[in-house]
Amino acid sequence: MVAAAAASAALETGKVSVLLGAQWGDEGKGKLADVLSMNMDVCARCAGGNNAGHTIVAHIGPDKVKTKFDFHLLPSGLVNPRCAGFIGSGVVVHVPSFFAELDALQKKGLNCDGRLFLSDRAHLVFDFHQVVDGLKEVELGGSSIGTTKKGIGPAYSSKASRSGLRVHHLYDQELFANKFRKLVEGRFKRYGHFEYDTEGEIARYKAFAERLRPFIVDGVTFIHTAISQKRRVLVEGANALMLDLDFGTYPYVTSSSTSIGGVCTGLGIPPTAIGSIIGVMKAYTTRVGAGPFPTELTDEIGVHMQEVGAEYGVTTGRRRRCGWLDLVVMKYSCLINGYTSLNLTKLDILDNLKEVKVAVAYLQNGKELPCFPADLDILANVEVKYETLPGWQGDISTAQTFEELPENCRAYVEYVEKFLGVRIEWIGVGPSRESMIKR
Ligand code: GDP
Ligand code: IMO
Ligand code: MG
Repeated sequence: MVAAAAASAALETGKVSVLLGAQWGDEGKGKLADVLSMNMDVCARCAGGNNAGHTIVAHIGPDKVKTKFDFHLLPSGLVNPRCAGFIGSGVVVHVPSFFAELDALQKKGLNCDGRLFLSDRAHLVFDFHQVVDGLKEVELGGSSIGTTKKGIGPAYSSKASRSGLRVHHLYDQELFANKFRKLVEGRFKRYGHFEYDTEGEIARYKAFAERLRPFIVDGVTFIHTAISQKRRVLVEGANALMLDLDFGTYPYVTSSSTSIGGVCTGLGIPPTAIGSIIGVMKAYTTRVGAGPFPTELTDEIGVHMQEVGAEYGVTTGRRRRCGWLDLVVMKYSCLINGYTSLNLTKLDILDNLKEVKVAVAYLQNGKELPCFPADLDILANVEVKYETLPGWQGDISTAQTFEELPENCRAYVEYVEKFLGVRIEWIGVGPSRESMIKR
């Protein structure tokens, strides 16, 4: 079963559907968001900013032209011309990037007029936040995070320290200018004077404010009206569980709640509004940026995954580190996010391997750890226990049903499913919309 049919399953509950990255990001969330959005009225982002990079490959328009879209800040559901995009209150928004992305989409033939909305409570990311992001990384030296340098951490820091500026502040010019100057002065005090045209920026934002006005909504009213009118809402998670500020590999994380909690806090909806929670997981593991990665492969299999899987970051172009599927991570991810089903992606990348390994436990001094550890020193020194499964050594990219997959491939899927105790409902066998098996 392919895309359109795959979309229907998420609609059954009549509640908000959520999809979340289950590992360290780049699992293929954009592709599932696109597939599901074919039957959605609203696709919403609730956290993060333009640090995300979601790729969609779709055949669009009357001539079905194969088109690749890269989304960073805007919701991927916009590829469906009937779906509205909503940027919720928990997102941090770099306004120039918002317009650059919107312009790029329009150029590709996607008309977004009247169907893109931005919460008035969302915080703003300014260019000085991006400068500070870079300066902070330099200051950290050898222990730098490897951020995307999009200013995400510094913007969420301004928010948490209660000195940030929100979208609605753009419409009180005097207040905006005063708060803005104070914020920049604070950064100068902390990081030394860097080149920055404060007054020029204030003037630039005056113009942005006018251009942004038609997109702005009261975010709480918007989402609750959509829910009460029984419009089908999909929340597109950004980043991923292991990058969550509380539950990820801190401090090698992003600065927002990328887990299920961030859906409620980022949109202002109660947990009872949520129906399905779909975890998107790659058939192996990748990570961009620094931080421990127990199943990382630095041998030829890692290079194979990297090359065949085209594992380069969409946002920064950095090479993604690759390794075997880590079921310890996935078990932890399932606990926190409570997935009701899973999308296993990029299974086709393992096609030619003789055998496939999965991590099933972490050992410390020969003793199995009960859970994914908080302490990165422990994590960096765990011994990983693997289960080895036979490979299928065949091309699965044209398979349309689970039954068409080779026996060993099905066995791999079933092993993962049994280990996690969560149904794998979708299987990705290629980058395009059509390459999605629905079970
Ligand atoms: P996201 O950040 O989770 O949306 O994922 P990214 O877009 O950053 O990275 C996933 C990459 O894998 C993109 O280039 C997708 O087009 C591609 N992709 C997604 N699913 C599949 C799949 O099942 N097979 C293959 N070969 N590529 C896939
Ligand atoms: P998507 O949505 C992969 C990583 C960065 C860095 C850390 C902190 O495409 O899956 P930040 O700029 O957020 O302060 O960087 O988090 N990171 C991601 N890695 N995919 C992402 O998003 C990521 N968003 C942030 O590489 O290690
Ligand atoms: Mg990505």
